[in-house]
Amino acid sequence: MSENFWPKEARNLCSALGIKHPIIQAPMAGGLVTPELVAAVSNAGGLGSYPGGYLHPDLIDSAIKKIRSLTNKPFAVNLFIPEKVAEGAAPSPRVVQKLSEMATEVGVAGPGAPAHESFTFEDQLAVVMDNGVPVFSFTFGMPDPAQIEVLRRKGVAVMGTATSVAEARKLEEAGCSAVAAQGIEAGGHRGTFPETPHLPMTGTIALVPQIADNVRIPVVASGGIMDGRGIVAALALGASAVQMGTAFLSAAEASVPEAWLQAIKQSDDTSTVLTRVYTGKYARGIKNRFFEDMAKLEAEVPHYPVQHALTAPIRAAAKAKGDARFMSLWAGQAAPMSRRHPAAELVEILVEESRGALEGLRS
Ligand SMILES: Cc1cc2nc3c(=O)[nH]c(=O)nc-3n(C[C@H](O)[C@H](O)[C@H](O)COP(=O)(O)O)c2cc1C
Repeated sequence: MSENFWPKEARNLCSALGIKHPIIQAPMAGGLVTPELVAAVSNAGGLGSYPGGYLHPDLIDSAIKKIRSLTNKPFAVNLFIPEKVAEGAAPSPRVVQKLSEMATEVGVAGPGAPAHESFTFEDQLAVVMDNGVPVFSFTFGMPDPAQIEVLRRKGVAVMGTATSVAEARKLEEAGCSAVAAQGIEAGGHRGTFPETPHLPMTGTIALVPQIADNVRIPVVASGGIMDGRGIVAALALGASAVQMGTAFLSAAEASVPEAWLQAIKQSDDTSTVLTRVYTGKYARGIKNRFFEDMAKLEAEVPHYPVQHALTAPIRAAAKAKGDARFMSLWAGQAAPMSRRHPAAELVEILVEESRGALEGLRS
């Protein structure tokens, strides 16, 4: 099959990244994305992304080596831009009380405690640089422009995440090669910069053309894209590629608990919610008991990473037991459109659907 049916802007970004199709499997931190998934997407002509966000540099290093043993195609590694942690304030007793009740129900001693990380963002970034990773992406803000320059000089394509035009402009000014425009439909955490005053709530269909009109670097549309129709729509809006997360959670090579996949399967268009209750940072997931119990206390929940640490043992135990009531079931608004396939097959289906959608529009 010829890949040349993709529009010009998409073909340009594909050739800059060394890939065949403008389809990026989103990085999804939390042990969900395996090296096998990344390699399968890249081998199929898309761009696989490995999420290093929560990981010790040694683990990122071994994952990169594993990916390299499975593919000689380009792939991305993604990191979180660290936030300054607000010192002092103890979490509200009502939050602690509610979490303690849930901990008992799921069989752990109690809420967790914030721990000091044994590594820094710079340690993680050094592994990305030392391994000559072809594409580096990031979220939750921006690294130092000097770090972006070093990466660019080494030939690394650098992509930041924006949830508003202002953030996209900052990424362009800092020297990024591309910007992922993340609409409100997206599963997982909002990539909003810490200094952005109000959480942008702009949907993909409104955000992508506005960012495309305001920056010269390629835009990658992200949020709510699940099939060829969504891909073609994003390209029509001015995107040069798409980044799809939820769609790849159901890929055979992903490591997602069955209870989570069942929740996705049983979800409908109104099942997800954007909330701070799981981690202290706004993220979209499927509503469950944890959300219902905590929703009233949302305003009292401490900021990320404190709430993340408090809830981690509860969510981890629930994940291990396959108890969807107390897990964080991250998923985007279009989760019901998920399909279970090996990743290469999914990429092939997406390519065929995109071609069909483009032809359909022309007929
Ligand atoms: C489970 C999950 C985890 C995610 N983790 C990350 C991450 O580590 N880094 C990142 O840049 N984006 C992360 N995202 C956001 C994705 O990059 C992307 O914006 C989102 O998946 C797009 O929306 P969709 O899920 O509707 O396709 C995550 C998304 C999900 C669903």
